[in-house]
Amino acid sequence: MGEPKRQIRLGVSAIGMGYHIAAWRHPDASPGGNMELAHFIRSAQAAERGLFDMFFLADGVGIRMYDEPPGALARSSKNVQFEPLTLLSALAMVTTHIGLIATASTTWNEPYHVARKFASLDHISGGRAGWNVVTSVTAQEAQNFGHEAPPDYDHRYDRAAEFVEVVRGLWDTWEDDAFLRDKASGINFNPSKLHILNHRGRHFTVRGPLNVARTPQGAPVIVQAGASEPGRELAAATADVVYAAAQTLEDAQAYYASVKSRMAKYGRHPDALKIMPGLMAIPGRTRQEAHDRYEILQELIHPVVGLAAIAGSLGDLSAFPLDGPVPEPTNPRMLSRARILLDMARRDNLSIRQLYLAIAGGNGHRTIIGTPADIADAMEEWFTQGAADSFNILPPWLPGGLEEVVDQVVPELQRRGLYRTAYEGRTLRAILGAAPAPNRHAGAARRAAE
Ligand SMILES: Cc1cc2nc3c(=O)[nH]c(=O)nc-3n(C[C@H](O)[C@H](O)[C@H](O)COP(=O)(O)O)c2cc1C
Repeated sequence: MGEPKRQIRLGVSAIGMGYHIAAWRHPDASPGGNMELAHFIRSAQAAERGLFDMFFLADGVGIRMYDEPPGALARSSKNVQFEPLTLLSALAMVTTHIGLIATASTTWNEPYHVARKFASLDHISGGRAGWNVVTSVTAQEAQNFGHEAPPDYDHRYDRAAEFVEVVRGLWDTWEDDAFLRDKASGINFNPSKLHILNHRGRHFTVRGPLNVARTPQGAPVIVQAGASEPGRELAAATADVVYAAAQTLEDAQAYYASVKSRMAKYGRHPDALKIMPGLMAIPGRTRQEAHDRYEILQELIHPVVGLAAIAGSLGDLSAFPLDGPVPEPTNPRMLSRARILLDMARRDNLSIRQLYLAIAGGNGHRTIIGTPADIADAMEEWFTQGAADSFNILPPWLPGGLEEVVDQVVPELQRRGLYRTAYEGRTLRAILGAAPAPNRHAGAARRAAE
């Protein structure tokens, strides 16, 4: 038997009501679904039926939307959400295989808390936990933790790198066979297999040990999302999966090559990291049907909500005519994103209204509206041309937008031999084709004995 064929993998980013800014108003959506457990159960079970690698919850520790123009927040559903680890603990009870990924900030948490919570989720889910490592960039979040603004860039990433190091150290507290739990002798664990971390660094002093036993995966899976130089470096050094955003094949290829080429210096094989660009996929039996489905949501965008979607980068444009040209921003909030939006507007000669309609769905991610074959073609192109190992599906609305991908696109990928027909294992690491994480101390003991 030769090497198993490399196959496309899928995750789903299942935050709130879905990605489209009018998602909660979709005729078939439960408008309060972002605070209903049943809504997430239906989505998680759909993704598992579709044999997805992971159910992914983005997060922020605060409402991250400005009320700009005024009235936009009152018309948005991006206001309340479950704390993701709590939600995933509940979803672990109604799923059996799919990986459960929560976002947790390295800026507004302490490593001991994060290590403990994800280790607990790994036990509760039977080895399916993953941590999406992010740094928090918004002032709204900073203001919930006694600061006016987030720390500057280098500080955030320096802290993030040390944060991950401490968390992984804590996850190695107990060797796999530390617990004897021998009723007869009365020995609960072997003290030589307990390791106290004693970490002292620039940002953290953490003694340990962790008060959660070694987890089923050895260590929860690490996902990372961050596109800058330090973000790529952190991914290459530590991540099992990277969530990325790219619109064109060339950009995705450049990002893919850039992250994978950094791995060798950390002693890692490029296959040890899966690169997962976001993809908004809207399937229909015909292209017309797919476009009609998308139009249902587009028509539900109130102009104030549309303007808010671009205000995050271009500022409040409500003083300009909606059907006039996009003005040069005087004080862009997010420079790189403002440039992308302006380039888009200039290239396609878009009015303000057309610009917000163009980004209302994918928010900077690639969007494919078409037949299942069109969507499978688009995935296959990036997958075979060095741009992606997997895709994080961004459903325009939940759960229906996800169910359509599961029921239409997954069978098309399977027909092409590009997608699994059953899960390969019970833990997320097994599903990703990775071995359980080794414990650094067990390795050291073995090496010393050799
Ligand atoms: C695709 C993608 C998804 C992200 N998701 C989140 C998120 O859910 N929560 C969050 O606080 N930050 C999120 N981030 C922010 C990053 O973690 C990062 O800290 C931020 O983008 C600034 O760093 P960068 O310039 O390296 O991207 C995301 C970034 C990207 C590129």
